[in-house]
Amino acid sequence: MATSADPPSDSCNTTARRQDPTSHDIPQVRDPHRFINDLDPSAINGLIDRLESRGKEPAFTCLFENYASKLGLSKSAKVLEIGSGTGVIARLLASMTDKQIHITGIDQSPALVKVAKQFAAHEKLENRLMFKVGDAHALQSVSGHFDAVIAHTVISHVTDPAMVLKEAYRVLKPRGTLVVFDGDYASLTYGFDDVEVGRCVDWALARTVFNNPVVMRHMSQLLATAGFELTEILSDLVSEIGQGSYFRSMADTYAPLMAESGLVPKADIDRWIKAQHRAIEEHRFFASCNYYSFMARRPG
Ligand SMILES: C[S@@+](CC[C@H](N)C(=O)[O-])C[C@H]1O[C@@H](n2cnc3c(N)ncnc32)[C@H](O)[C@@H]1O
Repeated sequence: MATSADPPSDSCNTTARRQDPTSHDIPQVRDPHRFINDLDPSAINGLIDRLESRGKEPAFTCLFENYASKLGLSKSAKVLEIGSGTGVIARLLASMTDKQIHITGIDQSPALVKVAKQFAAHEKLENRLMFKVGDAHALQSVSGHFDAVIAHTVISHVTDPAMVLKEAYRVLKPRGTLVVFDGDYASLTYGFDDVEVGRCVDWALARTVFNNPVVMRHMSQLLATAGFELTEILSDLVSEIGQGSYFRSMADTYAPLMAESGLVPKADIDRWIKAQHRAIEEHRFFASCNYYSFMARRPG
């Protein structure tokens, strides 16, 4: 099994190309969100900036608003966000409704929980938002407590998605709603003149950043196994054509980690990232990825 320590081989004929993107048996590299507690403070600050800027990108937040508007939360609903990061999604949910809903965010990173509390206080939302350190695989909450559980771009990062869904089921009230929102990162693609190398860089980026890059392909089955009834699936394409902001930030944030992973030669990544910047300057940038919101109910 290849690891991040494997040396890069010839141009693009690497581990990345040999992998079947639909395979369950994808060799692991060190997903920075999964191993966030091993990162140095400057790398954590980079992730904080990326999460906050992403949470303000209209192309991205409208996908959140689409599923959030379907949650049908009661006036005093209790919501759990697993993998809440800087709390940007919890803050969006709290501010898009005039209801007095209470949101608990849990995240494995003490550093992110600390900034999530600060951001919530800054927006005077601290009475309705609570953030705690916790592991989505073993929630501290009592069973049957929440009206809704949200997993917003976290299932692609966890060690064991099935266990996380099982825990979400346990803490939901009967007839409570789960939303699992994430990308299908085998569909992540950037324009690059050398199409063969571009495809390898796309997949190397997906493998570097996401522990489970194709987990959404298995979500119907995973939800059914956990006992959920699937109620709706929202399918969305996020694309930036001409200008790049969301995908530029993704490329800039993760290109150094992709280079460290050895999945593609560093020279190819340097060429690729320069080409992305040039494409933005010349208004001919192209990048896209498919995202899905799986909405499911714990049976009554
Ligand atoms: C991509 S971020 C998403 C944060 C937030 N949901 C958002 O969309 O802005 C993924 C988050 O999941 C957290 N995470 C990963 N694995 C986790 C686990 N097993 N338990 C709790 N949090 C986890 C990471 O620390 C990180 O903050």
